[in-house]
Amino acid sequence: MGKIIAGKTSDILPGKMIKVSIDGRDILVANIDGKYYATDDSCTHSGSSLSEGKLNDRTITCGWHAAEFDCKTGKLMKFPAKIRDLTSYNIVVESGNVFVEI
Ligand code: FES
Repeated sequence: MGKIIAGKTSDILPGKMIKVSIDGRDILVANIDGKYYATDDSCTHSGSSLSEGKLNDRTITCGWHAAEFDCKTGKLMKFPAKIRDLTSYNIVVESGNVFVEI
């Protein structure tokens, strides 16, 4: 498992999410009330970039067909069809930098 920098804490403000490319994977990194979380960025329905959707509290809403995922766990919360949960990743914050463990 490696620890890869995703950005500075000042780049990911509370209530915001960004997409970072790490080892060929697109990862969504979000700040919820000062804590950072990471999941896959690609929606498990049809591959939309979830970081281009909406973040409301801990819920990510896909911008294409409105699937909802729990940002803290990657679990699917709401969608009419059964689709996979998102993979979630551990985050480490050190010296003002946000690292994703993959
Ligand atoms: S691509 Fe995300 S809900 Fe369809």
